[in-house]
Amino acid sequence: MSKETFKRTIVVTGGAGFIGSHVVRLFVNKYPDYKIINLDKLTYAGNLANLKDIEDKPNYLFVKGDICDESLVNNLFAEHKVDGVIHLAAESHVDRSIKDPFLFAKTNVLGTLNLLQVAKEYWKDDFSNKLFYHVSTDEVYGALEFDDTLFTEETSYDPHSPYSASKAASDHFVRAYHDTYGLPYVISNCSNNYGPYQFPEKLIPLFIHNIRNKKPLPVYGKGENVRDWLYVVDHARAIDMIFHKGRIAETYNIGGFNEWTNIDLIKVIIKTVDKHLGRPEGSSDSLITYVTDRAGHDLRYAIDATKIKNELGWEPSLQFEEGIEKTVKWYLDNQEWLDNVTSGDYQRYYEEMYTDR
Ligand code: NAD
Ligand code: TYD
Repeated sequence: MSKETFKRTIVVTGGAGFIGSHVVRLFVNKYPDYKIINLDKLTYAGNLANLKDIEDKPNYLFVKGDICDESLVNNLFAEHKVDGVIHLAAESHVDRSIKDPFLFAKTNVLGTLNLLQVAKEYWKDDFSNKLFYHVSTDEVYGALEFDDTLFTEETSYDPHSPYSASKAASDHFVRAYHDTYGLPYVISNCSNNYGPYQFPEKLIPLFIHNIRNKKPLPVYGKGENVRDWLYVVDHARAIDMIFHKGRIAETYNIGGFNEWTNIDLIKVIIKTVDKHLGRPEGSSDSLITYVTDRAGHDLRYAIDATKIKNELGWEPSLQFEEGIEKTVKWYLDNQEWLDNVTSGDYQRYYEEMYTDR
């Protein structure tokens, strides 16, 4: 990192994870006059290989550390004169939260609280040009029925899983720091993301990996649950727009207007992977294996993204068919990345999860 003066200094937490790595890449490349500090603990989900292409850029710095570590975060703010935070670090997988809710409360709630407290103390004499951007999820709103309702920014919180409960609690703390201490914030709540660099415990990369390796595809329940899928690069673009143009103390929902039942989505993935591998159409259909449903499995998520469109002009740039093509191709072309993250700890975890069902 050079000694030159930067226009802004932003800490991105969780920048070595799936969405965080896309946000770091976008900001480092698009804003050479910003210093981007990636603070990441490198849990099982964090992987510096996700950022190989930008790691030598002069405006990028990686710091290995825990968002719960008060003195580390304090020192980071003081040493680098941080004026913005984009907070993505979290435990993010619902199935893991069912197994270990305490870890989710620690990272997602206490970790966020620690960041808020440090930012508030460091910025309190002058909140101008400071911003705490909290990246959250649509899962805080609970579950919709099979109808045409959508989650808006006004929908009441109703989280069901330990993951969504921990994210909801962290959202509340962010708003409380504004209302109590004046901390400037924005929050965005996004739908399910897909694309390159997603850890293969989540539906889409897991299934691409399993189809390629002719392993079972564990469909929870009847596969009827609905998710609203957004290409991860479009989420990063939305975060960029909200960070720069979003109104303080506002919430923005982000989604693709792109609802799929799990089973229909799985059929598209199977078809696309088989096509790329030169297998006859339908040859991997028999890998579909219906397993015991996830406890408290939310029926349907769907986002109304009208506010961000009307206020900031954001819209998804990719059609779903194009996004899935790109995603399948990326995982098949980056087998080494996939092999690295599917060895060791993950493999043991997955086998344990799978045997439990
Ligand atoms: P991820 O699990 O891929 O990455 C999380 C990152 O946080 C990892 O790099 C991990 O090492 C890091 N991390 C975890 N605990 C940490 C700690 N204590 N200190 C520092 N770093 C820590 O997650 P993701 O899918 O990229 O999600 C990022 C954020 O976006 C999360 O806050 C999540 O709630 C939110 N979100 C995700 C989705 C989605 O579909 N994946 C949708 C909406 C919102
Ligand atoms: P996931 O990718 O874990 O995201 P989330 O739970 O945050 O929505 O799961 C997406 C959907 O796919 C969800 O309804 C659960 C389902 N699912 C399966 O049916 N089988 C699987 O192996 C996984 C990981 C998920």
